[in-house]
Amino acid sequence: MLATRLLKTLTRRAAAAGMLACLSAGVMPTVASAQNYPTKPITLIVPFAAGGPSDVIARLLGEHMGRTLGQTFVVENIAGAGGTAGAKRLASAAPDGYTLLIHHLALAAAPSLYGNLGYDTLTAFAPVGLVNTGPMVVAGKMALPATDAKAFFPYLKEQGDKASIAHAGVGSNSHLCAVLLSQALGAKFTQVAYRGTGPAMNDLVSGQVDALCDQSTTAVPQIQANTIRAYAVTSAARLDVLPAVPTTKEAGVALDMTIWHGLYAPKGAPDAALDKLNGALQAALKDKAVLERFKAVGTGVFPQAEWTRAAHATRFKAEVEKWAVSLKAAGVTPQ
Ligand code: MLT
Repeated sequence: MLATRLLKTLTRRAAAAGMLACLSAGVMPTVASAQNYPTKPITLIVPFAAGGPSDVIARLLGEHMGRTLGQTFVVENIAGAGGTAGAKRLASAAPDGYTLLIHHLALAAAPSLYGNLGYDTLTAFAPVGLVNTGPMVVAGKMALPATDAKAFFPYLKEQGDKASIAHAGVGSNSHLCAVLLSQALGAKFTQVAYRGTGPAMNDLVSGQVDALCDQSTTAVPQIQANTIRAYAVTSAARLDVLPAVPTTKEAGVALDMTIWHGLYAPKGAPDAALDKLNGALQAALKDKAVLERFKAVGTGVFPQAEWTRAAHATRFKAEVEKWAVSLKAAGVTPQ
């Protein structure tokens, strides 16, 4: 009797002590919170200024994923250094699934452009899933004398460094597009860096800069509103929403560029949280309203087979390797 009571007391004490040890080691909250995840708002870092294409996609996605997961997605714009400042913030965030980053191919190109990122691109992040993919649009301010591609590209080449081209920082899509355009035309332009193509677009609309190669996401609404002029799209085929705008190939310019966004958590985030996030992302990518919003601005989703975490990880690794090879071949060294 006494022995049984003693055993019960010891067992209870051992269980309590074990529980305390688990709690102080942080094991219990991690397991419990990953299972109940998410129990509080999720911060979504956008590594460029508000109003740009990454911001637009993040807000659309965050709103939908928040509804699916029953928590708010709070967008935080951490702009600077071509998107690497926001990436660095994610790399040092707690890996608990409550801080995420939306980023694009610049995340993969950055290690070939920047000498000291403060994180290891291939090991710092846990890919959650691919978001959207689409072309860039080469556009100019309305006051330019060239009104179509045939007149614009020779004009731009002739202007050389008298022409200003805006971009969102070294390594951003708009910067890489400007560099490719410069190579294709064999001319150097004056580059003007911004913290994102949101503010760059504002300056194009007001005529402060001559040209900008931006994602269709934010270029299309301005083109349709006649605030800027589109000269070419960088995709293999014309966009349904801009049927009169030729492709760069049709315009005789060797510039072919497709961009993509993906969602990331810090490496080490619990699998249960990453799976729930991927599920919520997939729900958004299937939603008719989201697809219509994407289509209206000339962007789209990847084939469904590429919606998994694994597919995103594979593509991301391949993109890091691809940019390392192509930027090295172009004589670019990390600065
Ligand atoms: C932005 O949101 O400002 C863009 O994604 C920047 C870019 O890559 O051109």
